[in-house]
Amino acid sequence: MKGARNQRNIRRKQVLVSTTDGGPWWRSAVIYQVYPRSFADGNGDGVGDIGGIRAHLGHLRDLGVDAIWMSPWYPSPMADAGYDVADFRDIDPVFGSLTEAETLIEEAHAAGIRMIVDIVPNHISSEHPWFKAALADPDAPERELFWFRPGRGENGDEMPTDWRGEFDGTTWTRTADGQWYLHLFAPEQPDLNWDHPKVREEFESILRFWFDRGVDGIRIDSAALLLKDPSLPEVMADTPHPFHDLDGVHDVYRAWRRVSDSYDGDRALIGEVWMPEVERFANYLRPDELHAAFNFDLLGCAWDPVLMRESIDRTLHAHAAVGAPATWVLSNHDVTRHVTRYGREDTTFSFDNNLDGTPVDLELGTRRARAAALLSLSLPGATYIYQGDELGLWENEAIPEDQRQDPMWARRGHGREGCRVPLPWSGDESPFGFSTVTPWLPQPADWKGLTAQAQSGDPSSMLSLYRSAIALRRAEPGLHEPAMAWIDLHPEVLAYCRGAAFACVVNMSGASVALPDHESLLLASGPLDGDRIPPDTAVWLRMR
Ligand code: GLC
Repeated sequence: MKGARNQRNIRRKQVLVSTTDGGPWWRSAVIYQVYPRSFADGNGDGVGDIGGIRAHLGHLRDLGVDAIWMSPWYPSPMADAGYDVADFRDIDPVFGSLTEAETLIEEAHAAGIRMIVDIVPNHISSEHPWFKAALADPDAPERELFWFRPGRGENGDEMPTDWRGEFDGTTWTRTADGQWYLHLFAPEQPDLNWDHPKVREEFESILRFWFDRGVDGIRIDSAALLLKDPSLPEVMADTPHPFHDLDGVHDVYRAWRRVSDSYDGDRALIGEVWMPEVERFANYLRPDELHAAFNFDLLGCAWDPVLMRESIDRTLHAHAAVGAPATWVLSNHDVTRHVTRYGREDTTFSFDNNLDGTPVDLELGTRRARAAALLSLSLPGATYIYQGDELGLWENEAIPEDQRQDPMWARRGHGREGCRVPLPWSGDESPFGFSTVTPWLPQPADWKGLTAQAQSGDPSSMLSLYRSAIALRRAEPGLHEPAMAWIDLHPEVLAYCRGAAFACVVNMSGASVALPDHESLLLASGPLDGDRIPPDTAVWLRMR
């Protein structure tokens, strides 16, 4: 059945138009990240699914987003919430079926929304048939598709290297026959050997599988990690890194670009790549490689005018050097929601600095998050919204330990569940229209004021702010200008213009500041104080 469907010629012609007058859509799109487990539950099992997404496409259309980035929806044992993929050519039954995914792609296109799927090439699930075959027999040819190595020490019982994993755990696990295999993430996520032609062929075929189904873009998880130095040196300062940003990775993306270029429409490859060294970063965005890169510099940055300005400059500089669009992200499924971050004394984010449980002023955090929305939606480039940002959701820090499943919890003491809580759609109590039964993670009772329904008709709500800002982003010619320039108003105020006709001013100081001379006020993140902008408030201005 599935085979028959695969063979059908379902290459679809892309009919969507560019989002602004200028370049292709991916240069300036507003991209909404759907985390499928937590968006909406269509079949009443307490877990989000494709049926739920289809039922709420109107929310995304009314919000005005240009594209959906779908976090992994493939069959997976969910050891890392779907980033452990067992089959890239199907949909996990908890989310629905491939046929439903195809329908969603069509319906999204009909609503004017593009679709980006998430491909995780660095590793696969330990339940993938390749790894099962590799594990079953030390002589199986599938061993070559992974990094199996003997251990060090007399009995081979020491790991082959001392590399530190992304979850801060070990990076090697020993098998029953005594060999070790590499996993930069959880043990259930064995790293693939990208020196093997079969791995390369397989992923090019997976890209075609999804492009054939009409998807407009591929988000590439951990894109700089694929290649490893086969001599397995330790990580040391002043020597080339053994698994980050190896030169050979560029051949992989050149081949992928040939695949995406063979399709009609503006199909985009968007890599999760970030390194502040401009030259290394720029290599990924050469004309025959990726279209865009996805970075987290602003996300980790404190609510601080000097540091934010530096982060914006660093990001714009790195992208300008290669003519690529910058990308702006405030939150995602891995990090503490920014309403909570901005309401703490320490407003930075880093996996190495766990601030869970430190005091939070949610009112302050919300005020800043509103200002940050106007900042991230008016900088040049593409902007990502993580589901629930538009509702002003905060981190749920009260998740009971027995509901923590994230591999990061055991290893770092910070679980990522708090930002993955099911969305509140309507009603006065959990499940807030997300489901008809108890959701897979608890929703705070206080979210009753934050449901999409409650916010929809309220002009002062976060949802209304996002809708207005996204509509203005389309309508205001100044926001289509490719560049921005700083305006020096005050050392603790971020102010910049896009061309001559548009300015954004974010007051990050502790006192109100005067509105600069302008033609009209387009939007404000909060009430103004006469002609003054209160602290932690942003405005969009049409300039004379
Ligand atoms: C990416 C994902 C994260 C996942 C990791 C391993 O960083 O965003 O959720 O745990 O890759 O695949």
